[in-house]
Amino acid sequence: MDPATLREKYFEFFKSKNHALIPSASLVPLNDPSVLFTTAGMQPLVPYLLGQKHPAGKRLVNVQKCLRTGDVENIGDNTHHTFFQMLGNWSLGDYFKKEAIEWSFEFLTSKKWLGIPKEMLAVTVYKGDEVVPVDKEAVALWQGLGIAKERIAYCGSDNFWSAGETGPCGPCTEMFYWTGDEKVPVKFDPDDNRWVEIWNDVFMTYNKAKDGSLSHLSQKNVDTGMGFERAVTVLAGEKSAYETALFKPIIKAVEKLSGKKYSEHKKAMRIIADHLRAAVFIIGDENSVIPSNVDRGYVLRRLIRRAIRYGKQLGIEDPFTSKVAETIIKEYSSFYNELMKNKSTILSELQLEEDRFAATLEKGLRLFEKLAAEAEMISGKDAFLLFQSYGFPLEMTQELALENDISVDEEGFKEEYEKHQELSRTASAGKFKGGLSDHSPETTRLHTATHLLNEALRKVVSSEIKQRGSNITPERLRFDFSFDRKLTPEEVKKVEEEVNRVIKEEMPVRREEMSKDEAIKIGAQMEFGAKYPDKVSVYFVGDYSKEFCGGPHVHNTKEIIGIKITKEESSSAGVRRIKAVLVHTHHDSRE
Ligand code: ALA
Repeated sequence: MDPATLREKYFEFFKSKNHALIPSASLVPLNDPSVLFTTAGMQPLVPYLLGQKHPAGKRLVNVQKCLRTGDVENIGDNTHHTFFQMLGNWSLGDYFKKEAIEWSFEFLTSKKWLGIPKEMLAVTVYKGDEVVPVDKEAVALWQGLGIAKERIAYCGSDNFWSAGETGPCGPCTEMFYWTGDEKVPVKFDPDDNRWVEIWNDVFMTYNKAKDGSLSHLSQKNVDTGMGFERAVTVLAGEKSAYETALFKPIIKAVEKLSGKKYSEHKKAMRIIADHLRAAVFIIGDENSVIPSNVDRGYVLRRLIRRAIRYGKQLGIEDPFTSKVAETIIKEYSSFYNELMKNKSTILSELQLEEDRFAATLEKGLRLFEKLAAEAEMISGKDAFLLFQSYGFPLEMTQELALENDISVDEEGFKEEYEKHQELSRTASAGKFKGGLSDHSPETTRLHTATHLLNEALRKVVSSEIKQRGSNITPERLRFDFSFDRKLTPEEVKKVEEEVNRVIKEEMPVRREEMSKDEAIKIGAQMEFGAKYPDKVSVYFVGDYSKEFCGGPHVHNTKEIIGIKITKEESSSAGVRRIKAVLVHTHHDSRE
């Protein structure tokens, strides 16, 4: 079965069970400060798992772009990928365990769908702890469907799923498929890696607090995740996704560029294919990221540079990343349109990064060789020098060291890195005040205008709208909010008029400090997912708006003069984005 067919079948099956198909959210979550990238299908849906109404309903199906960078050293093996896709079906306070398990089973085994013999399957269930009971219900359901007792394993923390330290979570049941060449054993051993996990049904029942305690969610949800790469692989009867249609064309491109054979250079070619596929999706994302030395940009840089180094190892002399990227875009853009839309950015950013790295790579390698010949260990200072002046990510120096049987002083590197960060942080300390990029009068005016816009959207368009993010520069404001469709031109016009009306009313702006509970009680707006301290500052604009905020703001709305909405567009699934600029006289506002 080819990848597209599996995806279509999955969607078809759950549509037949009344699920609405929703698009993948962005790989780059702008409104969740706790993660750099979306790591699981449930992440963009957290607000809805917590009880907010989803515009598409209570039963959803999707494939979500995900990225995990935790186990980079595993890349190149059979089952780990940096970028991967997750098929999922969702119940938001609708069906629960019985339907979830029965439908998973039906999709996997029915001849009409995947047609896997049930004798090839095994499952795990949660064995329980002091608070959460053993999942007897799941056991009974699986047995009722004909899964033998010997094929059900009771597991601990692996079968209690949560995305992070806090948030929605619950016990889960995982489905495994036998991939060994040997006859399938009677008894299931979850630690035997010939049993490959293909699907996870999570019964989201709890909300985990900071102290680790669990409380019941206001609704019971189902969150399932079928790793697309893995499912494609086992259904193709292969051992690894690199040998399936998901990667074969990419590997072929690398073979052609290097003149070497995959069978003789598996690890290097797998790493190149995996890392560049991830890089293409990161740069090509709706919220595009480009290489840099911080946060997401640095993750991206490390991926590209690691791929380049393995390319050099294969003897590729000329720039090659953007050539491989062309193949990736060709293979993936029929489903992920954003890759075609962002094609020129993807190709030029990769080319640029490769040029930058090429300029220092040779010199850096020479320095490394000199250091390696002199001592058993690369000092923290030297590792930092390689990082700072030659663009060697720490992991790369460590990998090189390993190949040369020497070590790297990682602690020392981190100390150097921190010292450097300290310096640059002090230099830009002002940047973080109140979350604004600067304190120019334009920024402050736009900031207050953002509060008015937030309120105006609820007044004019829908009382359910919530802020999902905001970013202000002296040139423009950008405001993200939850809403399920494009605003009509009339709505945009009305919202703009409403903001300008309040501005003209010359409302005073004042700030008050109060406890977080008090602020919630008086109905002050807060951003979803943002974390606030116990004591907060609330800004009031006349009696029009009240919002959790650190400021700064104008003293009176008349200082804003007026705004003009320049754009209304989609930001990610269920999130819209408005951009607006200041106008300088009342006459500039929309007629
Ligand atoms: N959220 C679950 C997972 O990622 C389905 O495994």
